[in-house]
Amino acid sequence: MQNTEEKMRHLIDQADFSTQETERLLNLAEDISANMQAYSKKCEGKILATLFYEPSTRTRLSFESAMMRLGGGVIGVASADSSSAAKGESVADTIRMISCYADIAAMRHFKEGAPAVAANISSIPVINAGDGGHQHPTQTLTDLLTIKKCKGGFDNLTIGLCGDLKFGRTVHSLIKSLVRYEGIKFYFISPEELKVPDYIIDEIVRTSGCEYKEVNDMEDVMPELDILYMTRVQKERFFNEADYVRLKDSYILTLDKLKTAKEALAIMHPLPRVNEIAVEIDGDSRAMYFKQAQNGVYIRMALILALLGIENGILEEKHA
Ligand code: CP
Repeated sequence: MQNTEEKMRHLIDQADFSTQETERLLNLAEDISANMQAYSKKCEGKILATLFYEPSTRTRLSFESAMMRLGGGVIGVASADSSSAAKGESVADTIRMISCYADIAAMRHFKEGAPAVAANISSIPVINAGDGGHQHPTQTLTDLLTIKKCKGGFDNLTIGLCGDLKFGRTVHSLIKSLVRYEGIKFYFISPEELKVPDYIIDEIVRTSGCEYKEVNDMEDVMPELDILYMTRVQKERFFNEADYVRLKDSYILTLDKLKTAKEALAIMHPLPRVNEIAVEIDGDSRAMYFKQAQNGVYIRMALILALLGIENGILEEKHA
């Protein structure tokens, strides 16, 4: 039950958690990954609702795995047409119902802002599991955990973000998080039509003072990169099939293209991949994307524990 003196915490946008809170969460995830058994009963008697109105493999199943590994239970919907959303029920009414059935909810929605609407009226913590082409904050936590494990921290990294930087919500959330650190340099590698949206460049990148450059060619910047973050061209966000077909294979990372890359480059991808990373790279020691997906379980375990207040001292108390 919610303490009326405290404002409940949700995770809708990267900025909902301070840098300190994020780092405490990452530390907790690292402890969980090293001591899984110690956390196996922490959520006994608790229920997670997964409300997914768009397709998902990793996010939904890693949330469900996370809650089960904490000893809790899971209920949920895996598509819009398997819930009363198909009959016209609003997000607001849905979350009111879910608040009666579960202790915490993770929502993916095709409409930007839908999880924020839910959080505004929910009596249980709501987690944005991806809203349209907007944000995907738990993917960013997963990405940060992966970077921390590979690089030991976040300062002074040169990061190439490559592919669909317009519709790729994982990129938007990751930029928002990384601008908080010192000495970050971004290369935004995309075709003209899929550049990072102006509002992100103007309101987040420029105001942070981070160095950045928009380029078309991955190979021009390869030798400088500490991290290469590949993304899928987001077919489902295109209005025009012909544009998607023209742009979908703009970047295909092959071993040949990695010839000039650093030995310690970390190749990341939120997945699913289509063609943008050749399978020949999967066995390369620089390929981090499957470990990244595994990290998604640990960070989501940490997030559930923090939002339910089972692990204290991770999130600050916010007063209404
Ligand atoms: N990374 C990610 O969001 O994957 P899914 O769409 O499979 O959840």
